[in-house]
Amino acid sequence: MTATKKNRGPSWVANAIFYEVYPQSFLDTNGDGIGDLPGVIAKLDYIRSLGCDAIWLNPCFESPFGDAGYDVSDFYKVAPRYGTNADLKRLFKEAHKRGLRVCLDLVAGHTSTEHPWFKQSAKVAKNKLTHRYVWTDSVWQGAGLPAISGFSERDGAYVTNFFHFQPALNYGFAKPDPKKPWQLPVEHPDCLATREEMKNIMRYWLDAGADGFRVDMASSLVKDDTDFKETMGLWADMRAMYDSEYPEAVLIAEWSDPARAIAAGFHIDFLIHFNDPAYTSLFRSEPERVLFRFFENIPPSFFDSKGQGDIRVFLDYYLKHYRKTRGAGHISIPTGNHDIMRLAEGRTMDELKVAFTFLLTMPGVPYIYCGDEIGMRYVSGLISKEGGYNRTGSRTPMQWSSGKNAGFSTAKAKDLYLPIDPTKNRPTVETQETDPESLLNHLRLLSKLRRKHPALGGDGDFEPLYAEKNYYPFIYRRTLGAETIVVAVNPSAQAVSADIRPGKLSPNPMSLFSHGSTLKRTKSGWKITMAGISFGIFKFDAQ
Ligand code: GLC
Ligand code: CA
Repeated sequence: MTATKKNRGPSWVANAIFYEVYPQSFLDTNGDGIGDLPGVIAKLDYIRSLGCDAIWLNPCFESPFGDAGYDVSDFYKVAPRYGTNADLKRLFKEAHKRGLRVCLDLVAGHTSTEHPWFKQSAKVAKNKLTHRYVWTDSVWQGAGLPAISGFSERDGAYVTNFFHFQPALNYGFAKPDPKKPWQLPVEHPDCLATREEMKNIMRYWLDAGADGFRVDMASSLVKDDTDFKETMGLWADMRAMYDSEYPEAVLIAEWSDPARAIAAGFHIDFLIHFNDPAYTSLFRSEPERVLFRFFENIPPSFFDSKGQGDIRVFLDYYLKHYRKTRGAGHISIPTGNHDIMRLAEGRTMDELKVAFTFLLTMPGVPYIYCGDEIGMRYVSGLISKEGGYNRTGSRTPMQWSSGKNAGFSTAKAKDLYLPIDPTKNRPTVETQETDPESLLNHLRLLSKLRRKHPALGGDGDFEPLYAEKNYYPFIYRRTLGAETIVVAVNPSAQAVSADIRPGKLSPNPMSLFSHGSTLKRTKSGWKITMAGISFGIFKFDAQ
């Protein structure tokens, strides 16, 4: 069964707010300098206090950590540095007690070269796992895909999915080349066996209490699948398993092509820095474009006080995908993640508040990357850790307090997973807790509003009211039933105003939460006047 309007999956998803926990950097409870699962458990009340009701936990399974755990060597075992399987089950239980759900990270496309499957597959003698990975049949033959030759006595090169130690699991080729018999069709029993194995891994953790999976590189499974038809078929099959066995669990894609991912069966897809500059054009600052080489030829970010961005770069792509997925699944625009520069890079707290106002009032499912809620900075100049390279600066430890190591760990500073942001006035949870004007409390207000007003949630309709090429502000309407809410954001430092016609609405709108913006009735509608770096959330009731 594929996703249809009738079958949207679990109803809790539409109004969920997720928090991404990067376990190694979150809270260390045993003084070894690395965050751990008991640390996540200790902070569940904090996560709940943000208004979040779901967690995405980055990979916590056994791994040589060449890519920070995205190189799994045992999918059924928690990495000892994070704790035990019993700790993970305790996390599920403690989270559920507090009304929080916990989703794990499924690295479905590859494993570590240390995985016993791969070691078995690398043997010369034919065995059950010979085809578990994509191998060519000669070390001298190019695979037409990134591949490594000379790994073992087996004559052939293995295809990689990411770094050299992340061999691609074999789900087959969309159109196998008859001249290359090592390219197996998707329905080959050995490719189907890989698929079944992934299902079993999901079943194992869902049975243990997990609430779903975020799927790493979800579009990468079937090879040479230019139109993604076979990849989509594969996920439809996975989704069918969810629908029949785990109807309350959620399937989240790292695909960044919502129209495809949701048609394939995912409940949520992230709109991030892949495939199109839409997400990049919102937030990604100039240093990031240079450092990460993302879409170098796009206009400056829209959420930038210089005011030179273009909301249409985002909106044209977003609307196309929104219309195609409406009623079938959700697009998530995250505050950031462990792979990109921190949202705080190049932004003041006031600018971050405007960005958060947008993120928490858009349709879909908001995701807050741990630390973004206090405006943690990107720490530049760090030596790469566990395959982080320039991503390392977004993975530094959480800054809880003014205590030792910012309250993250009691270890010696040199033994920490990564150094703490050395900046003198680095933000901490402790100081922001007591400041009603802090970013942390701004987020709490926004998540409360989102919960109180279903029009702002995942199911509310979305319609732009003012979104002009190269102009500010950006104004949109969210509607559900009799409730209409108008949101206006002006990330630029310039004062601006805009005329809007939100339809037939009551003459007395109420400001739910605003800063520097006012609304005045005109002959034909309303005029919103906005100071530089301001926002406004106004509620209208139907007449
Ligand atoms: C995803 C992860 C990233 C990882 C890569 C390879 O993009 O988010 O951290 O390095 O996949 O698994
Ligand atoms: Ca620890």
